[in-house]
Amino acid sequence: MNKFIVVGGTSGIGKALADTLEKQGHEVIVGSRRAGLNIQDNQSIQNFFKNAGEFDHLIITAGSYAPSGGVKELDLVEAADAFDTKFWGSMRLVQQAIPYLKGSITLTSGMLSRKPVANTLVKTAANAALEASAKVLAKELAPIRVNVVSPGLTQTEAYSGMSEDSRQAMFENASKSLPLGKVATADDLVGGYLLAIENPVITGSVIDINGGALL
Ligand SMILES: NC(=O)c1ccc[n+]([C@@H]2O[C@H](COP(=O)([O-])OP(=O)(O)OC[C@H]3O[C@@H](n4cnc5c(N)ncnc54)[C@H](OP(=O)(O)O)[C@@H]3O)[C@@H](O)[C@H]2O)c1
Repeated sequence: MNKFIVVGGTSGIGKALADTLEKQGHEVIVGSRRAGLNIQDNQSIQNFFKNAGEFDHLIITAGSYAPSGGVKELDLVEAADAFDTKFWGSMRLVQQAIPYLKGSITLTSGMLSRKPVANTLVKTAANAALEASAKVLAKELAPIRVNVVSPGLTQTEAYSGMSEDSRQAMFENASKSLPLGKVATADDLVGGYLLAIENPVITGSVIDINGGALL
């Protein structure tokens, strides 16, 4: 039995992973704002790790929101806040986890890091920064392994702000453009995290799970 921390584990992909790990008999601590952890706040992170104590594996899936829109109209304050949550929030967690952590770190990016799509500047930048940084961290922190799971469009609560009709239309349109003709569910992503966590010689890798969206 291992001890896992899943930051973002109260929703979507992180919740699917946390549920699977619990079913496998592991100890799982989930973190997110509704569970008392804000990854934009250093003190909140410090308290969280102090309470959690030593653990084996850190997985970060937090921070799905980023404003969309062309650079001409983008609100850069809102953009910087989203980047701060997803990218710097991940780095704050990594930095403060090191004294408590033995096994591996798995970050989450997204396929926009390497698929240029107009009006997605913030997600693209944060995801690309995470993928590049994970490779540096893998060298610096070895023997702790550091990897990234990079999802494509995935059906999660991240889209719960949309109307049911527009959400379904988005998933249907996306599935038509995918080689596999299927938009992922959160459960489809879980195996990618398990591979990164369990395989003793994977480090500095980006695991793409996107139905073929990058082809
Ligand atoms: N779903 C997709 O289509 C898709 C595609 C590509 C990449 N991704 C990436 O995959 C990851 C997971 O996405 P998801 O769809 O599973 O998202 P989700 O269902 O919206 O879950 C996001 C999680 O992040 C937590 N969170 C947000 N801000 C936080 C903060 N400041 N401090 C601590 N926790 C915070 C949320 O909980 P609280 O609200 O309680 O804080 C929630 O648990 C994200 O990095 C996302 O960018 C998703």
